[in-house]
Amino acid sequence: MSAALAMAQGVENRTWPNPPVGAVVVKDGAIVGRGAHLGPGQLHAEPVALADAGDKARGGTLYVTLEPCNHTGRTGPCTEAVLASGVARVVIGIRDPNPTVSGGGARFLRERGLDVEIGILPESCLELIWPFVATDNFTRVFVELKTATSLDGRFAPGPELRQDGQPFYLTGEASRCDVHRRRRRVDLVLVGEGTVAADQPLLNGRLAMGDHDVPQTDPLPGYVDTDLSWQGGFAREHYLVFAGESARHGKARLKVEQDGGEILFCAEKAGHVEPKSLLELAATRDLFTVMVEGGPRLAGSMLFAGLVDRWINYMAPVVLGRGVTWPNDFAGPNVPDRGFSLTRLDQLEKDLLFIHDRKNFSATLARVTI
Ligand SMILES: NC(=O)c1ccc[n+]([C@@H]2O[C@H](COP(=O)([O-])OP(=O)(O)OC[C@H]3O[C@@H](n4cnc5c(N)ncnc54)[C@H](OP(=O)(O)O)[C@@H]3O)[C@@H](O)[C@H]2O)c1
Repeated sequence: MSAALAMAQGVENRTWPNPPVGAVVVKDGAIVGRGAHLGPGQLHAEPVALADAGDKARGGTLYVTLEPCNHTGRTGPCTEAVLASGVARVVIGIRDPNPTVSGGGARFLRERGLDVEIGILPESCLELIWPFVATDNFTRVFVELKTATSLDGRFAPGPELRQDGQPFYLTGEASRCDVHRRRRRVDLVLVGEGTVAADQPLLNGRLAMGDHDVPQTDPLPGYVDTDLSWQGGFAREHYLVFAGESARHGKARLKVEQDGGEILFCAEKAGHVEPKSLLELAATRDLFTVMVEGGPRLAGSMLFAGLVDRWINYMAPVVLGRGVTWPNDFAGPNVPDRGFSLTRLDQLEKDLLFIHDRKNFSATLARVTI
């Protein structure tokens, strides 16, 4: 199952809006076929792995990260291909989380005499397709918020301790590598204008380059600047700038466009880009998964609007005392959102990693493994 997972994790072009799926065929203790689903309109992972195995599949075992489909979509049902291949056993990571489909593929195969086992490395298999599950099959864009904070809840030191344009890293190397791996799995990495001005970030996945289990392509970078007042360019060649409609006819857009920024004009609310409108525009560009990397003002807006699906916070064992913190109107009784549940708590060298999800990951996991 690890090999099947790796097949799906490393797919060069992200498969969204389809879920990534990986499969391998094993015969006499050796892998004889491998396959991954490469995205809409492409074959599913099972027929690819079974074709790769050819006659060697007969009597062997198919490992697949997601329950084989039992319906005709753009391609035929995978269960038919599995049956025709002659494999004797099918090991499935997780059931299909879609309640209308769940169990159908496994039942079909069992009824025809195959030995079917479900729930192997289920957490990783669910992780693989979580953006798809959390958004009910991308009925909206998946938003992953990343924050890094000190023990006293600050995001960065104040300007008096900063060198202009130099990024300041609160967290250690292991956390930064983790962020870069996560960046490689999303379509767009987004920050606010304040972060571009303070850090001039690259927003790529350079620390994960060469890791076999993440895509090798970088996500598209972008920032939000309602009035296009940031005129200092951006450290990447092509990037998106989400501006307000009110900036459409201003002079400021010329410099941004000359620098390589592609501006998307969004609806505004209270003088700023409206986050929901931003995400709707992103969806029209086939940007299905977005990682919002702050700073706190943009992060606060996304949280306030109830648009964050997953919140990943790295907590560093330092106290800054002063510096960048949540915006004032984010405090006290205005706390907008108690709808997250804790999915995971990990240690990354000296830092702590908290992953919270709006859709309950553990409850979903329990449902897809029985
Ligand atoms: N530790 C971390 O995880 C982390 C991550 C990123 C940044 N940082 C630090 O955070 C600091 C910058 O954070 P920040 O809060 O000042 O700035 P920010 O969140 O990066 O950017 C805020 C700006 O984004 C624009 N914006 C457009 N639409 C918005 C909306 N709906 N909601 C909020 N902002 C919107 C606003 O400018 P308009 O006037 O154009 O609307 C606003 O001034 C830097 O010191 C940086 O180093 C830390």
